[in-house]
Amino acid sequence: MAPATDCRFPASPVFYRSLTKRFPKIVCGEGCWIFDDKGKRYLDASGGAFTVNIGHGVREIADAIGHQAGRIAYVNGTAFTSEPTEELAQELVELNPEGLGYSYFLGSGSEAVEAALKLARQYWVETGKPGKHKIISQNPGYHGNTLLALSTSARGHYKKLFEPWLVRVPLIPAPYPYRCPCNGKAACPVCSGSILEKVIEEEGAGTVAAFIAEPIGGSSTGASVPRPDYYRRVREICDRHEVLLIDDEVLTGAGRTGKWVGIEHFGVVPDIMVLGKGLSGGYVPLSAVVTSERIIGPLAKGSGKLLHAQTFSHTPTSCAAGLAAVRYIKKHSLVAMAAKTGKALQRHLSVLRSLHGVGDVRGIGMLHAVEFVADAKKKTPHPRELKFAETFVEFAQDNGLVVWPNVGHADGVNGDLVMIAPPFTITEEEIRQLVSLFENALDKTLDHLAEKS
Ligand SMILES: Cc1ncc(COP(=O)(O)O)c(C=O)c1O
Repeated sequence: MAPATDCRFPASPVFYRSLTKRFPKIVCGEGCWIFDDKGKRYLDASGGAFTVNIGHGVREIADAIGHQAGRIAYVNGTAFTSEPTEELAQELVELNPEGLGYSYFLGSGSEAVEAALKLARQYWVETGKPGKHKIISQNPGYHGNTLLALSTSARGHYKKLFEPWLVRVPLIPAPYPYRCPCNGKAACPVCSGSILEKVIEEEGAGTVAAFIAEPIGGSSTGASVPRPDYYRRVREICDRHEVLLIDDEVLTGAGRTGKWVGIEHFGVVPDIMVLGKGLSGGYVPLSAVVTSERIIGPLAKGSGKLLHAQTFSHTPTSCAAGLAAVRYIKKHSLVAMAAKTGKALQRHLSVLRSLHGVGDVRGIGMLHAVEFVADAKKKTPHPRELKFAETFVEFAQDNGLVVWPNVGHADGVNGDLVMIAPPFTITEEEIRQLVSLFENALDKTLDHLAEKS
């Protein structure tokens, strides 16, 4: 039987991510553009879900995947290693912050976050501190959708239904300057990071295993950049209370913020780091838990391994894709390009700040956000029932522009923003097109919602 031509539920047998809309069928991509089967093209201004860092259609990556798959289908990580796995880990030693010399490869960001949290717990058990099991994270914040990763994520609308299955994770407010009532005051416990110490003390340092955070806000706080000394303060607090610092670089890593990893902006080395998304340029699912000898040494002398097991860990073909992507990034100096082009992107996007309905435009490198508000002076979010971000994204897609929405960040329910995070290779002319398509989608959204009200 031929595949369904109407790509929506229930006409197609695919169990789609949305059961209420029709999906354009994408057939290929080139650079920042993707093309559907009707010949329509879309400017991929979010790199899919912040994954396509090096652009679509890069032959070297496709060739590396084909070559490796042609050599061996699969070997299991409990029994064997492979050339691409060894070589990718070696490349990462040179790129990652000093001392983070060991990489454990997995598929998705959620899987790697789960494994990183387990590693933190196991480290404390094997170093004689079995009371340390709690994880502290930030609100808003996102670390994935498997149950422990979801427990650490402050995303009420994702968690509500599964609440009985989730573990309690104490939260500190994330640094979110646009919505912080402190107006930049140096003493602000949230913006300075000192609030972490209060929560560790309340919970009892002897029970806290780790603090997990995104170094620069992903879609949860819309590319909010903490103060330059935020992570130095966090690092000191973690050290003083023997709490491991887990740096979630799933979204910000692989050059996205103009440095190889976001935490480099703060001059701090975490205990455990998690990479994902752009590590393979988006060509295959690939993530990594990265850590130091100090953390895995006690496991080596004790139980002998991380108590975690997944069929597709350390997979040769995935690692071959990652290796090719990392070498491509190095060969074409794409991290430096993300920093440089990021400045041009910021300059062009700043014109959106004066538009009706826009509250803030912010970001760093190739990670930016536009936050929508009902009242710019008071920063009042739109009521959730309006579905502002979702409506905007639909009009944008109709226009041929792909951006990434997030909602609920203002107060847990209300709040609308979209993320702009194109491949690092976007040209200035394409950035101009992006801004023009954005303005057009915003006009259509405002007109549509005005008509409805
Ligand atoms: C910061 C962060 N951590 C973890 C994840 C989970 O990654 P995945 O969706 O690949 O499971 C995401 C996904 O968006 C993320 O942005």
